[in-house]
Amino acid sequence: MMAEKKTLTPSNNPYKGMDAEALKNSLVNHLEYSQAKDEYSATRLDYFNSLALTVRDRLFERWIDTQQTYYKKPCKRVYYLSLEFLMGRALDNSMINLGLREETEKALDDLGLHLEDLVEQEYDAGLGNGGLGRLAACFLDSMATMALPAYGYGIRYEYGIFFQHIRDGAQVETPDPWLRYGNPWEIPRPEYLYPVHFYGRLQNKDDGTGGVEWVDTQDVMAMAYDTPIPGYRNDTVNNLRLWSAKATRDFELGYFNHGDYERAVGDKVATETISKVLYPNDNVFEGRELRLKQEYFFVAATMRDIIRRFKKVGGKKYTTLPDKVAVQLNDTHPAVAIPELMRILVDEEGLAWDTAWDVTVKTFAYTNHTVLPEALETWPVDLFGRVLPRHLQIIYDINYNFLQEVEKLYPGDTERLRRMSLIGEEGGKTVRMANLAVVGSHSVNGVSALHSDIIKRDLFRDFYQLWPGRFNNKTNGITPRRWLKSCNPALADLITRHIGEDWIIDLDELKKLIPLAEDPAFREQWRRVKLANKERLASYILKSNNLRVEPHSLFDCQVKRIHEYKRQLLNVLHVIALYNRLKDAPASGDRGGRTVIFAGKAAPGYYAAKLIIRLINAVAEVVNNDGHTRGALKVVFLANYNVSLAEKLIPAADLSEQISTAGTEASGTGNMKFALNGALTIGTLDGANVEILEEVGQDNIFIFGLKTEEVEATWRGGYDPWQYYHSDGELKWVLDMISQGYFSPEDPGMFRRLTDSLLHHGDPYRLLADFRSYVDTQDAAATLYRDQEAWTRKSILNVAAMGKFSSDRTIGEYASEIWKVKPVKITRPAPPPPG
Ligand code: IMP
Repeated sequence: MMAEKKTLTPSNNPYKGMDAEALKNSLVNHLEYSQAKDEYSATRLDYFNSLALTVRDRLFERWIDTQQTYYKKPCKRVYYLSLEFLMGRALDNSMINLGLREETEKALDDLGLHLEDLVEQEYDAGLGNGGLGRLAACFLDSMATMALPAYGYGIRYEYGIFFQHIRDGAQVETPDPWLRYGNPWEIPRPEYLYPVHFYGRLQNKDDGTGGVEWVDTQDVMAMAYDTPIPGYRNDTVNNLRLWSAKATRDFELGYFNHGDYERAVGDKVATETISKVLYPNDNVFEGRELRLKQEYFFVAATMRDIIRRFKKVGGKKYTTLPDKVAVQLNDTHPAVAIPELMRILVDEEGLAWDTAWDVTVKTFAYTNHTVLPEALETWPVDLFGRVLPRHLQIIYDINYNFLQEVEKLYPGDTERLRRMSLIGEEGGKTVRMANLAVVGSHSVNGVSALHSDIIKRDLFRDFYQLWPGRFNNKTNGITPRRWLKSCNPALADLITRHIGEDWIIDLDELKKLIPLAEDPAFREQWRRVKLANKERLASYILKSNNLRVEPHSLFDCQVKRIHEYKRQLLNVLHVIALYNRLKDAPASGDRGGRTVIFAGKAAPGYYAAKLIIRLINAVAEVVNNDGHTRGALKVVFLANYNVSLAEKLIPAADLSEQISTAGTEASGTGNMKFALNGALTIGTLDGANVEILEEVGQDNIFIFGLKTEEVEATWRGGYDPWQYYHSDGELKWVLDMISQGYFSPEDPGMFRRLTDSLLHHGDPYRLLADFRSYVDTQDAAATLYRDQEAWTRKSILNVAAMGKFSSDRTIGEYASEIWKVKPVKITRPAPPPPG
């Protein structure tokens, strides 16, 4: 599938020349149909909605064709189960994928409107925390673009990731009511409504089969909402189906029976809280009952829907399910799908246990996203058994069979049995969801080469010894449609003018930029595009933070969730060191001028991460207002990082900060987005940085710090932060300033907890060990930046080397190596010629 050369010749681009006039009419019709009949009173939001509906009409025709084709052609389908889909805005992406953007711009011009203004009206669909959720969104785009019969399944949260405000330097959260003004992209599907059971008890069936029944349950209904997912100019429109919780009719009947209206309505509200809000944690497990209910709620409805579709296309023998259905589990969050499928097959469909287990393992595949211990899902057995009694029993049965198999291979090795058990015994019994996911899947993958190695030799070592063939790597990727063509139109156009447009669906084409790196005229154009993007970001910073930044300065960006392992604090230490140098010797130091930009949300309950945000803002306050620096250093914290802010910020970056402690970041995808937009990376050998280095070559990236094995050695051989403190005067100065209140004169002890964690509490992220090599590498970056020709050359070579990091490549590997699904071409009648 991947070998075939892909091109976008005019003949396979049926949208070229679609009539701007027709679009305009359609837009005006929608506008007239809405309340805004009087053209003069129409707001930008009215225009946005009308434009969205205009685009939606074109999506829906193709959506119906696509879904019907999947029924007519007996194909294997893939289901991507994820508790998060961080979609961002849909309008620009839909126009691009339908090939409508240029015509729409023309049509709007005629109406005296600017497309950009309307695009800005759309609320982000922020149903995710960070990398894992955005990966799911990029995968949907790639699956549709590669014409795969694929479905996304998740929860239609009423509130997405919270809004972040900065008040007096601190993060303040408010809810994200993203559906308040309606969502033009979704279609409610009340006909897809399934009951989901919770709690209750088990009793033996009285039919003599020895089977078990789950009775006296509390039930919630799951209702489907569909969002069309268009492929890039290929007529495929796949489906993202999100479930919303609705009370069952029983609540209303209960009211009539007991006359307790208030109670009936109260119970209804309580039931519907299941799909109310996304848990705002990234890489941290929070074992709340409601979260477990969310996981089962969406999995139960999804498995019902999958089985319904399987039966509808004539599937009767469940042993053929894996020939028709592949289910990918995005982390362990949907892993309860494994016992759920067992429950359906054994309790409801009457399959023998062993047959059902064989079908289940062949159906599921699991992606691991983290090795951080605090992120691993382990549910207290008591809680799990109360909410899902039958599933707990099934997990115990799976575990019994599994441990017997292990015991046969490793007789008497009780330590191994203890480690591999699906039930943890330390600190109270728990269900280990990662072990369940590994045992219940035929494929387990990590998300970068390094991460996949680490899970094989560390996290899942015993399982890898048992089933080496089950483990594989699928390095993450990003969609070039959103992360270059849509977010950076000027750079995309410059590239297309020189190498053609095939890179949009075949990112390896970017290699053709390599010779252009030697062309001074091309470099000049490249620099102009970057400068214009930086000027746009500078205007945004002026508006949002009331701060002027110099567009010619080096834009040094660290934007991602705030987490200790990602080491924003290390970046701050460097900023303070630069500040000290500028104060000390205003003529020397980092004279190129640098604007250090941070953005990212901290989990609301994560004290240290929130304190780091306060420190960044406190340092910004001091640095930005100190005349000694003469504007050579500015620090910016941009509030409310989300997909739309990323789309503004990434095209304007010069330097991409990817500085996590080696061995902690599974992949990272921000690193890929920055490099694809011409930023150079300063990073550790962590996650996908290792592969970015391989692709761009060591001359075109700034690598520093301990390697994974060296970090591991500090755990075995001891780590002494004081050694660095006492031997590095610059480091000591910086740490003393923070701990003695230089940045918090009104509360000198405010940030001491941060320096204490580095010096007194064993700092698991080894910041001080990497400080010197980080600062020296930053100096090298600053020196290079002064040579704009050399910098631009490397910027071009970075973009040229990003082919591997297209999510099309990633999805191609999942499809052929794990899912065994093939493209299904959607054919439509050609549109009438223009005019
Ligand atoms: P689902 O795949 O059953 O959820 O249905 C999604 C869409 O596929 C429907 O709204 C129809 O447009 C189409 N569809 C469903 N069932 C059939 C069928 O039996 N033949 C052709 N198209 C179908």
